[in-house]
Amino acid sequence: MTKYRTRLLVALITLIIVVLLSLGIVLGQLFKNHYLNNFNERLKNEISIVSYFVENTGGLSSLSENDIEEISEELNTRITIVDSNGGIQFDTESDTTEKARHVDIIKKVLSGIGQDETEGKYSYGNQLQYFWEAIDRNGQTEGYIFLATKVNEMRQAYNQLWWILSISLGLAFLVIILLGTRITSRYTKPIESATNVAIELAKGNYRARTYEDHIDETGMLSASINILARNLQDLMKSQEMQQDRLSTLIENVGSGLILIDKRGYINLINKTYKETFQVEPAEYLYKLYYEVIEHKEISSLVEEIFMTEKKIKKQVVLPLAIERRYFEVYGVPVISMNNVWKGVLLVFHEITELKKLEQVRKDFVANVSHELKTPITSIKGFSETLLDGAMNDKQALEAFLTIILNESDRLQSLVEDLLELSRIEQHGFILKLEKLDLNQQISEAFTMLEASAAEKNITLDLKTNSSSAVITGDVNRLKQVFINLLTNAITYTPNGGLVAVEVIDLPDDAIVKVKDTGIGMEKSEIPRIFERFYRVDKARSRNSGGTGLGLAIVKHIMEAHKGTIEVQSEVGKGTVFTLKLKKEMENN
Ligand SMILES: Nc1ncnc2c1ncn2[C@@H]1O[C@H](COP(=O)(O)OP(=O)(O)OP(=O)(O)O)[C@@H](O)[C@H]1O
Ligand SMILES: [Mg+2]
Repeated sequence: MTKYRTRLLVALITLIIVVLLSLGIVLGQLFKNHYLNNFNERLKNEISIVSYFVENTGGLSSLSENDIEEISEELNTRITIVDSNGGIQFDTESDTTEKARHVDIIKKVLSGIGQDETEGKYSYGNQLQYFWEAIDRNGQTEGYIFLATKVNEMRQAYNQLWWILSISLGLAFLVIILLGTRITSRYTKPIESATNVAIELAKGNYRARTYEDHIDETGMLSASINILARNLQDLMKSQEMQQDRLSTLIENVGSGLILIDKRGYINLINKTYKETFQVEPAEYLYKLYYEVIEHKEISSLVEEIFMTEKKIKKQVVLPLAIERRYFEVYGVPVISMNNVWKGVLLVFHEITELKKLEQVRKDFVANVSHELKTPITSIKGFSETLLDGAMNDKQALEAFLTIILNESDRLQSLVEDLLELSRIEQHGFILKLEKLDLNQQISEAFTMLEASAAEKNITLDLKTNSSSAVITGDVNRLKQVFINLLTNAITYTPNGGLVAVEVIDLPDDAIVKVKDTGIGMEKSEIPRIFERFYRVDKARSRNSGGTGLGLAIVKHIMEAHKGTIEVQSEVGKGTVFTLKLKKEMENN
């Protein structure tokens, strides 16, 4: 940018030089002429005075040489007086070397007198200048007076003149340049700075600013540039914010998103999509959709949207890794305001959980009906048999009525369990929180189950690392958990086994382990035993009067207490249920 200022300065300097030079030449010439005229005028006057003096002091005949000598000295010129024939009467210069030339010149001048151009003045080359005047006596020319000056002196005067002119103009030049650079920089600096800022703005650096310390047009320019920069920065900021919001939204929305441009290239996939389908953006972005999307169903859906230009909503099942997952896929053609095709947007909304829940609900209804049907069928069957005449046989009557009673008990416990479960599962299920001692609760559960354990000759054992493990929880619900777990332990442990409970009191949590030396179960069964109605060995469980709801209830109560439950089991060796409960719990 210095170029601009330099150019301006160069132009200015050239202009000044030209002006000063021409001014110098004109002034020099003027001064020279003026000086010359003055000089000539002075000599003319001087020679008039000298001739007047000579005439009045008696002419040539009574020439006072001393006076002439003095005058010559005063005037600093050579005075020569000749008679009318050119014979030298008196000369103030006694030097003889130039005498001959002097005499020659005088002769030459005298021979030319009367002609116009030689009027009172004669120049000998560039060295000497002669002025003369006639000495008149009684109306006759008696002789002539010559004043000779050396041109050298004049030269010196000229030189002096040029020197003075050059120095003063040079000084003027320096002053002008000094002031000029100051003035130009005062005006070019804001322009340069504004230009630099404009360049920065064009590059995208919206934080660039210029000085605003002038109040004239350049100041206005700087101020306007700054306003422009500020506006651009604000605009940029709000655009970035918008962009941020949009990308955050796209990245974090719960559904998988994929944007395909009008040529079929994938332009965008969001985090959810990457996570759900386990894809690498590098393998996906800017590739043709039908080359990278491995599910044919999705590719053909995109193709359909491209062809029909219509929205499509479809439920698909996609095998992902080891599981089958359900998705509701929305496919939308992206068409801009002016009907230009932009591409296709696909939204993958995962509904696997919903599908599972639906399945669970269906299974539940089937299970409940099945569970209810069995005792009802048997009650109905036995009642009919009794009515058909079996009631007359006292032994059969008693046996059948016992069965009917047992089946009714089973029905009752089933319905009670179902009610319990539905109560716990209900939204807004509230725990009655209070301080309770786990050791005490487990001891009480032991007391309740002593009889059934004794029946199977099973030993119940309680181990604890502190005399009281106090936590906050719902007493009745937690006791239900322990009873359910202990009942299972006793039920699924053969005669003579051991059921041991261990309570570990930690600073923030309490851990309860319910161990048995029972039949155990396969690892694959473990996640399923918490499902409603699920039983590992259906026949055995039913014989033991189980409905398969016990652990479902346990799981729900543990969740309500924000606790966890884990199972370790080995077939034929036994099972350990590990409960982890928080000591302090907020009621919500
Ligand atoms: N301690 C255990 N040892 C071996 N298997 C177990 C044990 N506890 C539970 N199970 C298995 O898990 C299944 C589910 O148990 P859950 O308590 O939910 O039902 P249940 O005992 O059959 O019936 P109930 O509803 O009367 O408790 C059982 O049927 C059993 O197969
Ligand atoms: Mg049970």
